[in-house]
Amino acid sequence: MKIIFFKRILLFLIFLISGLASAQKSERELILIDKDWRFSFGHLYDTEKDFGHAAGYFSYLTKTGFGDGPAAKDFDDRAWRKLDLPHDWAVEQEFSEKGSFSHGFKTAGKGFPEKSIGWYRKKINIPETDNGKIISLKFDGVFRNSKVFFNGYYLGTEQSGYNGFEYDVTAYVNYGGENTIVVRADASMEEGWFYEGAGIYRHVYLQKTNPVHVAVNGTYVTSELKNNDADVIADVTVENKGNYKGSIEIIQTIFNAENKQAANFSESILAPEFYKTITHSSKLYVEHPLLWSIESPNLYRLVTQIKQNGKTIDSYETTFGIRTIEFDPEKGFFLNGKPLKLKGTNNHQDHAGIGTALPDDIQYYRIKKLKEMGSNAYRCSHHSPTPELLKACDELGMLVIDETRLMGINDYHLNDLKRMMERDRNHPSIFCWSVGNEEWNIEGNIVGERITNVMQNYAKNIDPTRPVTVGISSGFKSGISSVVEIMGYNYLGNGDIDAHRNQFKNQPGMGTEEGSTFATRGIYFTDDAKHYQSAYDRKPRPTFYSIEEGWKFYAERPYLAGMFIWTGFDYRGEPTPYGWPSVTSYFGMMDVCGFPKDNVFYLKSWWGNKPVLHIMPHWNWSGMEGREIDVWVHSNCNEVELFLNKKSLGKKKMEQNSHLEWKVNYMPGTLEAIGYKNGKKVLTEIQKTTEKAENIKLSVDKENVQNSKVTVVTVEVTDKNDLHVPTASDEITFSIKGGKILGVGNGDPISLEKDQFLDALSLVQITNFQEQKGTTVTLPQELQNYPENDWKTAFKDRDYKNQASSYIYKGEFELKNNLASNIVSFFYKKIGVETVVFINGNKVNASTEDPQKYILDSAILKEGKNTIHIAVTPLQKIKDWDVMNTNPGVIQVITPAEPWKRKLFNGYAQIIIQKEENVGEVVLFASAKGLRASSLKN
Ligand code: GAL
Repeated sequence: MKIIFFKRILLFLIFLISGLASAQKSERELILIDKDWRFSFGHLYDTEKDFGHAAGYFSYLTKTGFGDGPAAKDFDDRAWRKLDLPHDWAVEQEFSEKGSFSHGFKTAGKGFPEKSIGWYRKKINIPETDNGKIISLKFDGVFRNSKVFFNGYYLGTEQSGYNGFEYDVTAYVNYGGENTIVVRADASMEEGWFYEGAGIYRHVYLQKTNPVHVAVNGTYVTSELKNNDADVIADVTVENKGNYKGSIEIIQTIFNAENKQAANFSESILAPEFYKTITHSSKLYVEHPLLWSIESPNLYRLVTQIKQNGKTIDSYETTFGIRTIEFDPEKGFFLNGKPLKLKGTNNHQDHAGIGTALPDDIQYYRIKKLKEMGSNAYRCSHHSPTPELLKACDELGMLVIDETRLMGINDYHLNDLKRMMERDRNHPSIFCWSVGNEEWNIEGNIVGERITNVMQNYAKNIDPTRPVTVGISSGFKSGISSVVEIMGYNYLGNGDIDAHRNQFKNQPGMGTEEGSTFATRGIYFTDDAKHYQSAYDRKPRPTFYSIEEGWKFYAERPYLAGMFIWTGFDYRGEPTPYGWPSVTSYFGMMDVCGFPKDNVFYLKSWWGNKPVLHIMPHWNWSGMEGREIDVWVHSNCNEVELFLNKKSLGKKKMEQNSHLEWKVNYMPGTLEAIGYKNGKKVLTEIQKTTEKAENIKLSVDKENVQNSKVTVVTVEVTDKNDLHVPTASDEITFSIKGGKILGVGNGDPISLEKDQFLDALSLVQITNFQEQKGTTVTLPQELQNYPENDWKTAFKDRDYKNQASSYIYKGEFELKNNLASNIVSFFYKKIGVETVVFINGNKVNASTEDPQKYILDSAILKEGKNTIHIAVTPLQKIKDWDVMNTNPGVIQVITPAEPWKRKLFNGYAQIIIQKEENVGEVVLFASAKGLRASSLKN
């Protein structure tokens, strides 16, 4: 009895939940479609290698739906590589001196026509029940110049590699069946002078809405603080892509972090007309709001609902924060009425091992690393970022300068700016828009002045709540700098900042770039031959300043709101002051992995709020006994005493924003620093000479996101006393269970080791395809002797009304090698009804998974030329105009990757791993010659 009762309750609950789910479905759905894409390289100008794309008599620009080559709905992509997004094909390639200096010498993109076009294809099912909804594709960013097709229909081109964009596919959907999304990305041109990656490196979504819905980026939330309360002004733009005429109800509800309703407002309005929009504004009152700040990044959620005849037809969420920002030309920057010195860094968007294809968790990881260094502000140099970066900054408390790519006053420039601002303007972390950086042609002249005036005023139309800046490197006092709202000084060495300020007393300013110092992590003697720069914070070039010099300048001037170091992290490309074989920059406070260089401890001392004591360099200088070594201490203690093997080398007073130096004759042992605050010993720190490396140590970096699928693992080696060996360079080999490895790195600017170890996939075409007629409908099961002279070009002048009863075709394909480990498959494309395939005279059978796929054993293959025979009974035309397939298919060769490995660089390497779906635990194994192996469970 009881059981039946419980069953009923259970059934009722299931009914309720599924009811809720379907109720939700009548609203907006945003479905991440990153999984299961097919990928292949095309070609920049060789149409044949670009799968015949855009070569049809009618192509996609002549007649709608005529996407040709891979853009066609039914193109056979079975032999293409399978992958999940985000994807960056540049990072997968080898390095070469022929590659681009600014982009880190990868053999992709500019100058590599065979690695500059990437085709992506994906199939999705859209149910019959979606008929009547607006279906769209949402891309967060594709590098670059992407063309998108849906079921063979051309949707548009997005030139920018940084804009998000959406396409409405409603008219083209095959409801209740399969639909094909195709993207052709063209990375042959560079937009920046830094590594930019290549391909679909940000998320893609399928979106379903009611015809009446919140428009793309259609909300704008601002707030005004009144004493302890806030007026929140919520604007929503509603679009009507249907025929509904009549009223709709707009309900705006604000929820706090505990999900409690903080305010609510609703109003009925007339729905916009067909294909029109309407913007509705409501004012909500939030009592005692918790303000967003660096220390307490409190967020609120606005839920915008649209109701039609009492039924919710759209529900749209906007995360926002309540805070005030203000720039004062005398006193600098204020957040929530309190002065805040901007302690910022510039950053590009790539990371070790994975290029620009960052999983969301890595965004959090990087922002946490910067916060840990004491930084409170981030400049997106020099383009708009991925939405997840801004989300991380909102949630972790990091101010942001959001920057557009190119200055100008036409659609190309203003439209980019508009889209960036409309997408990003609800993020409380953003405190300033940047409309340009170091535009050397125009910075100091009237053209720059005119363009800035337009862009700045244009920006105000979209968001009057934030100021506008430009990063300026020359021509202070003229051109852009004479009209820009917030002066962005790029480098002390580029002009007289005080002089500019004295002339423009009402213009607030900040250092949008400072530093550009060179340092290699763990290197303490510059070695130009090896391309290593010592990590002591020295003046990098005569007109550039050290980090300490830069910070002192900004810290001493209240009128300057703060500074942004060039850069927080090293990045690929721009390996100034060197060139090949250096492939990453030297500017970062951290290396490409996020391992700190010593300057991080200088910044922690004066930017952070925790006690710091750090000694540099390490104390492993075997062979240098008796030589004088510079020992620096970074600390925020008042006094520091240094000891070598317990003998005092003197106590020194620390000056504000400074560091301490000793000259020490090297002797192995222990270098110890003791830090005092107000005469009291507060910290001790040591650098100890280690024994030789014995053990591999794997650890989960503390800045990882808890319980996330992606984990950043630190790899190091220790001696018998468990001490980290700072000079180790062992090569570590990895394997994994329950997950996959995404990338490896070590921060060595001259490492040309692979970032990723992926199976190599190549497609081999069948050439010299010929035919002979057969006389029977029975196909041969063994290869016959066919008269050599009777072979003629296959399908040439075929009379489809009078076909032979069977045909035998012959073709060739070249194999570069015939390794037993290769997996070679023939992906047959039907050219007959019944088919028998022979490879080098041996009959082969179709695989069980796919009747048109043949897996070819290396025993029947050979290096060089191979022959294929295909015996068929012919396909018949049904209609005269049917276009018959004449392509027999393609040979796919997969060469399995060698095991993942990486050398340690000055003691460290990093490996990024991803847990498989539905797996409890991932295990990473690491081994190396002469070292004790290790594993890590996560
Ligand atoms: C600046 C530029 C940055 C970077 C840096 C390197 O001039 O704005 O993007 O190139 O120099 O020093």
